Amino acid sequence: MLRYLPRHRRAIAVGGATLVAGQALAAYAPQLLRHALAALDRGVAGFEAATARDAAVRFAAAYVAAVFVQGLLGFLTRRTLIGASRRFERDLKRDVFDHLVALPLSWFDRVRTGDLLSRLTSDVEAVRFSVGPGVMYLAQTAVKLPAAVVAMVAMEWRLALLVLVPLAGIAVVVRRLSPSVLARSRAVQDRLGDLSTKAQESFSGARVVRAYALEEREKDAFRGLNERLVTETLGLARSRAFLSGGLRLTGDLALLAVVAWGGRQVMGGTTDAPTLVAFLFYLDMLLWPMISFGYVLASFQRASAALGRLDAVLSTAPEPATTLPPAPPRPLRGALSVRGLTFSYPGAARPALQDLSVEVPAGSVLAVVGPVGSGKSTFVSLLARLRDVPPGTVLLDGTDVDALPLGTLRAAFAFVPQDAFLFSASIRENVAYGARGTPDPARLAAAVDAAGLAAEVAAFPAGLETVVGERGITLSGGQRQRATIARALASDAPVLVVDDALSAVDTRTEARILDALRHARAGRTAVVVAHRLSTVRDADRIVVLDGGRVAESGTHDELLAHGGWYARTWRLQRLHAELEDLA
Ligand SMILES: Nc1ncnc2c1ncn2[C@@H]1O[C@H](COP(=O)(O)OP(=O)(O)O)[C@@H](O)[C@H]1O
Ligand SMILES: [Mg+2]
Repeated sequence: MLRYLPRHRRAIAVGGATLVAGQALAAYAPQLLRHALAALDRGVAGFEAATARDAAVRFAAAYVAAVFVQGLLGFLTRRTLIGASRRFERDLKRDVFDHLVALPLSWFDRVRTGDLLSRLTSDVEAVRFSVGPGVMYLAQTAVKLPAAVVAMVAMEWRLALLVLVPLAGIAVVVRRLSPSVLARSRAVQDRLGDLSTKAQESFSGARVVRAYALEEREKDAFRGLNERLVTETLGLARSRAFLSGGLRLTGDLALLAVVAWGGRQVMGGTTDAPTLVAFLFYLDMLLWPMISFGYVLASFQRASAALGRLDAVLSTAPEPATTLPPAPPRPLRGALSVRGLTFSYPGAARPALQDLSVEVPAGSVLAVVGPVGSGKSTFVSLLARLRDVPPGTVLLDGTDVDALPLGTLRAAFAFVPQDAFLFSASIRENVAYGARGTPDPARLAAAVDAAGLAAEVAAFPAGLETVVGERGITLSGGQRQRATIARALASDAPVLVVDDALSAVDTRTEARILDALRHARAGRTAVVVAHRLSTVRDADRIVVLDGGRVAESGTHDELLAHGGWYARTWRLQRLHAELEDLA
């Protein structure tokens, strides 16, 4: 937190100065009023009527001026301090986001997206509230309260005692009741979160809900959560009403005490009426700081919990750019070597990859095939160090990937992941995402064409500018997959990695894409994970994974001759294709 302060020192200095001046003036203003009334009092008594009126007018004018200046100072205080807190919020949000983006992939396996969103929004807001308005209210009270107390004690100490005891009572009441208000508002936040999660799931799972005719069950579940929400909300309203009613009552009792006891003093001649009026003003002035004091303390508790949650993010180490001394930069050609790679996911019972070795010369094609769960996706994700690998097990152009800065390493890969993810943006923006810098339109068009998407895109209302995803049209699974292939083709990274992206297209489209890929590859290294073996028969080398180990390895012909999983699967798939052709 302290790191952010120096940036705002000007605002803090200006806001602090106007705050102290404004509050000191506020504490002094009732004295002016008292003098004005006292002068009038003397006027009524018949002494120096004209001078008394002049004096009263002068004091009254001074009072009005004081109130005006105080308002101006209050405005400046709010503007500088609250403004600074908003800029602090922006900086904190940016830093948390920057940090999240740099966290390792393994970290995202363990957190829920909704939780991250609430850290980025409501936790940051809770911290902002306490450092902005919270500290401001506290500082105002810290200046105004002692000044007002000194003034009141100096005027009439017994009356001061009479006012301050119930006021202190208010702070105690708020301090005691605010935790329950706080707990209840937290419960309301949680229930609200449950409700929106439920709604979001019902909507995004709309197909499943319809297909299984589960509308009634969804309605019931929503109604139940909605009911729980309203119960908590009503509880919160009750606590709040109790608190504010109690505060009003305490304030009014203090007022009553001042009027009753002070009135008797005035009648008895121990105190004068102007002093009593000044006291009433002080009472009113101190009521709010006393009430806000408890809230401010509660907001500090909330902020400290929020800070804890933010700190859990900020203190997680980001992915190191390199874990070995960085190698001197040089153009990458895209030769890959994997040597004795064993890899386990955290908490997994057995390794996902075991003692895996393979050489991929620059410009060659490696195919990775094998049963579901054999480690194909894990293998390709480790090539670009999406997860940490043991040193010396994965090398790009003979350099340990740990010695290549992450930016350099990952820029060497054009990756088509197994799950085709597109941003809510135009097709052009999605495809251009793979090309760093400003993409050349001809290159984008060529990528879209090579991915076999050109004809469909041309048929869309806005062509390449058609927005896809939540705010636009919905692409079919195959179209989405081809858009991610176009994204990889638009980049000129030396290594192309395709993780089972061709399963979602039919055989004819696949053949077309493969042809285009061969063309667009132009000397690039390719690592292709495939389900259909016909996809990979021309690969320079085919590796069959089974349970994380290399079960077979060789060219298509070698593997057929070997008579293992590959040969069996090849025959089955051929038979299948022939049957399809007959049908
Ligand atoms: N993020 C992950 N965390 C933990 N285990 C995983 C994760 N991803 C995959 N696995 C496990 O690793 C093994 C290999 O998975 P994967 O590489 O996806 O296989 P394939 O792509 O060949 O189907 C599986 O047993 C799978 O359950
Ligand atoms: Mg996979």
